[in-house]
Amino acid sequence: QFPAEGKVTWKAPSNIALVKYWGKRANQVPANPSVSFTLDACATTTSVSFTRKEGVSPISFDLFFEGSPKEDFKPKIQTFFDRIEEYLPFIKQYHLKIETSNSFPHSSGIASSASGMAALALCLVDIERELNSEMPQVFFNRKASFLARLGSGSACRSIEGDLIQWGAYKGIPESSDLYGIKYPFKVHQAFKNFHDTILLVHKGQKQVSSSVGHNLMHNHPYADRRFNQAHENLDKLKDVFEQGDLTEFINIVESEALTLHAMMMTSMPYFILMKPDTLEIINKIWDYRAATKLPICFTLDAGANVHVLYPESVKEKAIQFIKDELVAHCENGHYICDRIGAGARRL
Ligand code: PMV
Repeated sequence: QFPAEGKVTWKAPSNIALVKYWGKRANQVPANPSVSFTLDACATTTSVSFTRKEGVSPISFDLFFEGSPKEDFKPKIQTFFDRIEEYLPFIKQYHLKIETSNSFPHSSGIASSASGMAALALCLVDIERELNSEMPQVFFNRKASFLARLGSGSACRSIEGDLIQWGAYKGIPESSDLYGIKYPFKVHQAFKNFHDTILLVHKGQKQVSSSVGHNLMHNHPYADRRFNQAHENLDKLKDVFEQGDLTEFINIVESEALTLHAMMMTSMPYFILMKPDTLEIINKIWDYRAATKLPICFTLDAGANVHVLYPESVKEKAIQFIKDELVAHCENGHYICDRIGAGARRL
């Protein structure tokens, strides 16, 4: 007998891609495989309360963001529900109340779609588990990742920690286009406590949404070469992760970030998503690295903000450098100290 009502709450983190997902096919299938660090501090907490309805009717839900009703988020959530209802047959029998909040400021230029869709997907699978009881943990995580992907592709990498691979790739036979998995190979201690200090260069709305960006990879003159390059970089990363080769790690990660932006600059229409301060920061990181030989590098999302990546072993020096030289390039001096995390958890 299904319960008449209940409530579940999950906290899911954001993630930062090392090999970027850029370009997709139908049903949120990625054009190339990617790999990411799961983050810790940047997270979304979502509660879903469910109440049984009379009979079966179209999906109905109320949405509250940071305590207030949020009508403008509803179309995106409705699209998500339309895509996932066939995988969650119970959903039409309940009215859902979704309450969500982010650990990071809204309009900080940090996308909440990965953590937000992951947290919502986890709540829904958890309700299904409550109704159906038996569900092995592997299946639970895979289904949550599968559903999160249908909300926002990269969200499928925000279920587990700490290094996640998504997208069919011959080097990992168990990999899938449909969900993310824990990176299955050996990862050297050097990568275990990595830090990601996010420099908020530009806090406004993104100039180009990621769905528009992904679509620009259709008929893109360099698309096929780029998709192959992602596979090649995953090949190279296997040894890099195993041996703790930070020099080669930096080469791959920075090249991936700049390639993502190069794809945007060479699409039609074309975009420059970096700001002058983004370039100033990148140059200062390169100068600092040349002078100190410390393994501090950057990566970028599809925007102007810079993620500064460094291992635990250089934490003090990196933070000093960031405060002395980089924070001046952030909007209102704002930045977020994050690090690799263990994945989502139930509250
Ligand atoms: O998940 P989406 O559709 O918002 O796309 C995210 C794409 C990048 O963040 C730019 C790269 C990635 O792999 O996360």
